Amino acid sequence: MTTATLSIATIAGDGTGPEVTSEAIKVLDAVARLDGFEFTVESLDWGGDRYLRTGEIIPEGGFDLLRSKDAVFLGAIGHPDVAPGVLEKGLLLELRFKLDQYINLRPVKLLPGVETPLAGRGPDDIDFVVVRENTEDLYCGVGGYLKKGTADEVAVQQAVYTRKGCERCIRWAFEYTRRRNSPKKTLTLVAKTNVLTFGHDLWWRTFQEVAKDYPDVNTDYNHVDACCMWMVKNPDAYDVIVTTNMFGDIITDLGGILQGGMGVAAGGNLNPDDGGVSMFEPMGGSAPKYTGTNKINPIAAINAMAMLLEHSGQPQSAARIDRAVASVTGTKMQSQAAGRMGFSTSEVGDLVVAALDSPEQG
Ligand code: IPM
Ligand code: MN
Repeated sequence: MTTATLSIATIAGDGTGPEVTSEAIKVLDAVARLDGFEFTVESLDWGGDRYLRTGEIIPEGGFDLLRSKDAVFLGAIGHPDVAPGVLEKGLLLELRFKLDQYINLRPVKLLPGVETPLAGRGPDDIDFVVVRENTEDLYCGVGGYLKKGTADEVAVQQAVYTRKGCERCIRWAFEYTRRRNSPKKTLTLVAKTNVLTFGHDLWWRTFQEVAKDYPDVNTDYNHVDACCMWMVKNPDAYDVIVTTNMFGDIITDLGGILQGGMGVAAGGNLNPDDGGVSMFEPMGGSAPKYTGTNKINPIAAINAMAMLLEHSGQPQSAARIDRAVASVTGTKMQSQAAGRMGFSTSEVGDLVVAALDSPEQG
């Protein structure tokens, strides 16, 4: 980190977004005191309510504002009075595309004390990371209709893959696998080369070429359908997965449930280039039915804050939060499900703060 003060923009967003965001900020505040760094938070009111009030999703100058920050924290988007897709496209995908956050990083790690639906599996078995390409594929919005609304209607939705787009993602995934340096040290490409013989052939060829620069990293390949089976049957076989945007979207929800669900799963939208701004978010939605009830699980948001710190020059604070979260899930919380944690949202935040000085494990 070159700047002395970490500057963060928060988009707390809709529903329970603000509740979990304030727990994440509470933990940030405490860890910054302990580790001795300064930060600023500018909270932006972007989201469903503002859109309904003003008709605007991202206000003028919004991107420049975000570009002036070190990182962005997003709580949740999704409003019961706004049609599905409007905020997802207008806010989340717009930010990913315009800020060129070409990596979607999703750790799939089962924490101590957290229940997984996989029988007989524990934290030693579920600890891998999905690197999802985040700017191309079916998400580009290329397509259209013919004869819309008639019996002869045709709809086309095209997947776009570029050499540059897949190469930068694959290269980053190799670097990440090398850095992570797990005993497996294996990067698995997940695609569908047997059917998507153009786009995924480009991914395949690029993967083989880039692999030559990383002789120390083992490589593997899974078709996406088989990957879904292996994730359930042998999750311990994975170290790092690199995959396309649409498949990555699907398998990371599968990963999310293996690690205990939306109450704990977090992700990062990274622009790892010089001057790039990255955005971190809990994976759960805005959970309208829990809004304002102090029942939603803030662990995913706290994990997202740890990721933000990890990628913003404060890795020791990220590790400190990780340890605290593991001790709270392992020794305090009854469940990761909203309303069944044994504690309220803000109490869970307090527990994590109280555990921040837990010693490092040998
Ligand atoms: C995710 C979400 C988004 C996606 C939606 C909300 C557009 O499911 O971050 O995985 O599809 O990428
Ligand atoms: Mn998704």
